[in-house]
Formats: sequence, structure tokens, C-alpha cells
Amino acid sequence: MDKNAPILLFDSGVGGLSVLAEVRKLVPDARLIYAADLAGLPYGAKSEAQIAARVAGLLGRMSERYRPRLACIACNTASTIALGMVRDVLEIPVVGTVPAIKPAAALSKSGVIGLLGTEATIRQPYVDNLEREFAAGKHLLRFAAPGLVEAAEAKLRGKPVDRAAIDAAVKGLRAMEHGDEIDVVVLACTHFPLLADELSEALGPDVQLIDGAAGIALRIASLTSGQQFGNPEGNLAVTTGAIESLEALAPALASHGISRLERF
Ligand code: DGL
Repeated sequence: MDKNAPILLFDSGVGGLSVLAEVRKLVPDARLIYAADLAGLPYGAKSEAQIAARVAGLLGRMSERYRPRLACIACNTASTIALGMVRDVLEIPVVGTVPAIKPAAALSKSGVIGLLGTEATIRQPYVDNLEREFAAGKHLLRFAAPGLVEAAEAKLRGKPVDRAAIDAAVKGLRAMEHGDEIDVVVLACTHFPLLADELSEALGPDVQLIDGAAGIALRIASLTSGQQFGNPEGNLAVTTGAIESLEALAPALASHGISRLERF
């Protein structure tokens, strides 16, 4: 394997940076390419067929261009819908991001777990299966919070966080049956850990937040262990959308170790 072969992380927007941050801690020498499908954002409002075709097609083309050693779908919406299809299309290991229901169930004392995701994620059979397998006998309260995707995109572009979006997500969860007993909230969208401080403040000190990023980084470290890494060109961010929209993220990307930006 070429030691400069990158690890490709893919999301609709900035969300996957919450995963990339953990990957950098465990695999610091790897060359990383961060791909944001800003032309397709938001995925949460799209149909299953649209997401599957788009994600599989883009990852196929990106793999041809960048020759990654591994691809990570750093997006719960895309992973819960298209992980199997992408694995069929690519010849490299593909790591997905799925809601951290298993650790949340282990952590919850009240047996009431909140789950914040996109509209598309919360209706997935993949989530039904995780609930059946790991949260049987508990209450899993799912709430769609698309406003948080927009709020995270704005925050990383240096704009103020939309408090109404935070309040709507928290109030929505609390208003569900047993909502007042929630003691763990699964952040089932990679955008949401970017708002962890704001969400935590709104939910109060008795609620723990959990997401899958550290677990994904461990999986990537294990799949690449023993491999050689080189990164002479530096990390790169690419977008399917307007380059200006990616450029507005330059300071946030630089703080994640990415200084080269280009259009895909
Ligand atoms: N970051 C994506 C996720 O984890 C979704 C954001 C979107 O709606 O595009 O689900």
C-alpha cells in the first residue's frame, strides 16, 4: 500500500469533523481527506433512494480520484441507509457511523434514552434493529432535530448559534411520554456533537450526551494498525458545493489540521 494513501471521511457537511477530531487523536500520522457534500446538504430531508444513490455514487467517484486506504461515512443518515450499498461498491474497508444506542443503554439508570437525529435517521429500520438488540425493555425516545444541522453549519462558519434550534430539540424530547425521565441522550447525527456545550446546558447536568465518534476512531485505528503513513501534501477538504461555502469554514478546518481546500 502507498504510505501516502489517505483515509477519506465523508459527510453532507461539517458534521463529520466531530469524527475526524477523534481519528486525528488515534491516527495522527495518516493523511486525511474530508469530503463535505454541501451540494447535497441536508441529507435528513431526502428520501432513502436519493441518499443511497448519491452517497454510493459520490464515494465511488471519490475513491477513484483519491485512492483512499479506508473510507468512513461520518454521517448517521448516510450510514443507516447506504452502508451496505457503499460496501458493495468500494473495494476498501468502509466504516460507518451508527447511533450509539448500545453504550447509551448501558449508561442509562432511568431506562429512558433520548435520541436526536435527522428526520431520515430516526425512521430507519437500522435504528429499530439497534433498539431491539440493545435497548429492549427501555424507552428510546426519538426526535428529529434538523434545525441543529443548520445551527452546527452556522457555528463552524463563525456565526452565532441559533438558540431556538437548541430549545426546540430539547423541548421536543422532554415533551414526549417519559421525556422528563431521560438521563442519556444519543447524538445520532455527526453534526450534533459540535453543539454539545449548548445542548448540555439546555438539557441540564443530570443528562449525559453520547455519540459514536470515539468508537469509530478506535475501529479505524484497528483496521489500519501496522500500516505505514506519510502525509507530505497535508490534509485536504473537498466539497461538491460552492468553494466559497467551504472557504467560509477555513478557520474551523485549520483547527482540525486541514489547510488545503478544493472543489470535487
Ligand atoms: N451529519 C449527518 C448525520 O450524521 C446529517 C446532516 C444532514 O441532514 O445532512 O446524520
